[in-house]
This record gives sequence, structure tokens and C-alpha cells, in this order.
Amino acid sequence: AADDKFVLEIPKVELHAHIEGTMTADLRWKIAQRNGTEVRLGAFTPPVKSLEELREAYNTILARVGEKEKSSEGKPVLFFQAYYEGFNNLITKEDYFDLAMGYFETVAKMNVRYCEPFFDPQGHTSRGISWETMMGGLREAQLKAETELGVKSQWVMCFLRDLSPESAMEHYKAAQPYKDMITGVGLDSDEYDRPPSLFEEVFSLARKDGFNITAHCDVNQKDTHDHIRQVVSTLAGTGAQRLDHGLNAAEKQELMDLILEKGTGLTVCPWAYLRHETPHFICSRIRTLYDAGIPLCICSDDPGYMENCFVLHDMLLAKRICPFVDSEIAAIARHAVNICWAPQD
Ligand code: ADE
Ligand code: ZN
Repeated sequence: AADDKFVLEIPKVELHAHIEGTMTADLRWKIAQRNGTEVRLGAFTPPVKSLEELREAYNTILARVGEKEKSSEGKPVLFFQAYYEGFNNLITKEDYFDLAMGYFETVAKMNVRYCEPFFDPQGHTSRGISWETMMGGLREAQLKAETELGVKSQWVMCFLRDLSPESAMEHYKAAQPYKDMITGVGLDSDEYDRPPSLFEEVFSLARKDGFNITAHCDVNQKDTHDHIRQVVSTLAGTGAQRLDHGLNAAEKQELMDLILEKGTGLTVCPWAYLRHETPHFICSRIRTLYDAGIPLCICSDDPGYMENCFVLHDMLLAKRICPFVDSEIAAIARHAVNICWAPQD
């Protein structure tokens, strides 16, 4: 629509997309065909027989993840099953290149000029993929996207919080040869009973080594206010610079005051929440945080598993449902620039 032109054309920075979660059904099928490997939706389900079947499965099973998740003690089991199953199709350096290039090409058309995608090394090394295969493919795509598409990027390495702090530390150490590609470290995966404080040692070390720090606090997760407080005030000694999601902070003035005092930036992914929560719940939280002056930006999270809704779609969605006028969209786009970790030049 004509009134969406502004949102399309504004230059963008995206700070919360899991590169593995940007793998569309089409790209996954292409990679699997090339490698002669099977595509599965769960460890114990039969292989998918066609691209049409895979697309259909993504549109039905995955779109309904939220409904089913509500019945499982707030643990987003189905999403994670599907998401990690997708990792199995990533095998060669070319696969990692295609994964990252696919994302860069899509967001270049949305006027994204800079981004900081997450990657989950533990989901790759655990299958015997080498660091060089993984990082080599990501690096090649990163260089090509910068020269040919004008999309600059730096990577954020996430630790899977449902695995042990020892595994996080091992992976942190193993990633050091690639530190020039990596601007920060984050914390993702299933948050249930996995507070950020469990990973204090590796985050403190990362900060001492000069990495930037962020961590997920999923919407309506058990103990969410406590997890938010840890991320903002104590993680890595004095708190992370960014908080991924963190919407429930809007329910406690004390948390909003803390976030404002610390200058923490929030990455908010509205489409991802719609499968669990009502538009009213999401929008009232986003509006409260925005009006409090908290620097939040709008991002996509796992677009490949969420009806291929990339960052432009999330911004349009926020505009419609919150609602935001164009000057507020511009302020949000500027927040992303302010809270990103790009070098000053
Ligand atoms: N890893 C990939 N997507 C995620 C999400 N939505 N929440 C937590 N960890 C994730
Ligand atoms: Zn995320």
C-alpha cells in the first residue's frame, strides 16, 4: 500500500535474526537435494517427499506451534524441535554460504544496510561440522553481501542455554580464531529453568575479552522478571548492553527504570509473539516500553519458520497493530542504529 512506502524505504539495521532460523522451506529443500539428504520435521517422523509437502508443513504445523505450546507448561518444545531439525541439512561450506547469502539478499531488498545475525555453533559442532566449514561459509557470504549488496554485518555467537555452561565455555574458546567476525555473544534456546546467571563465567570472560553482550528473555517465560533483572543488571558483571525480547519488563516500573538507567537496548520481534499471545498483549507491552523512552527496535527472529516474515513485515505489523505513525517508525529505526555494535565510521 502507498502508506507502506516509508517503512519499505527507510534504511534499516536488523539486530535479532537467528541465521539458522532464516532458512526457508525452499532453501532447505534446495540444499537437501544438492546433498542427497533427507528433510524431516522431527527426529521420528518420516522424510518429507516434496518441496510442496515441506512448504505445506511449514505453513500448517509450524504456524500452529503456539496453540500446542500453550499446553506444555510454557515450554516451546515444538518450535525448537522443528528449528533444530533444520540444522541437520546444513553440511558443507556452500550450505552455510547459501544460508547466509539467502538472508542477506532478502533483507537487502528491504533496505537493510547493516545487521548482526545470531548463529548457534553448538547445533553444528554436535553433528561433527567443523568450525572452518561453518565460519568459512558465513564469512564468504558476509564479504560478498558487503561488496555486492551493500549489506554490512557482524556475527553474534549464541550459547544454547539448555546445554551446560561447560559446553558454552568450550565453544567460546574454540571460536577465538574467528573473533574478527564476531562482535558479541548471546544466550538463546529453551529458557525454561535456565536463568542467565548459570552462564556468568563465560559472559564475564567474553566481556573481559572485549565482546559485546546480549541475552534472550522470552515473552511470558517462567521467572521472566527475574531473568530480565539478571540480564540488565548483573550479567557479565554489570549487565548486558542488549536484551532480546524482554517484553515483560513493561509490567514492572522498577525494571523499566533499570533498563533506562543502564541504557539497555531491546530487540522486539512482534510476528514471533503472535503465535503465543494476543495482539493486545503484545502491543500494550511494546507501547509501554516505547513511551517510556526505552530504545527498542523491531526484528524478525526466525523468519524461515514463521511464514517467511522478514524484518520489513515485522515493521509493517508493528505499524498496524501498535499502531505506530511513520515518525515513530523512524525513531525505532534510529534506535536500532543507536544500539547496534557497528564501528563508528
Ligand atoms: N533460537 C532460535 N530461535 C529462538 C527463539 N525464538 N527463542 C529462543 N532461542 C531461539
Ligand atoms: Zn531469538
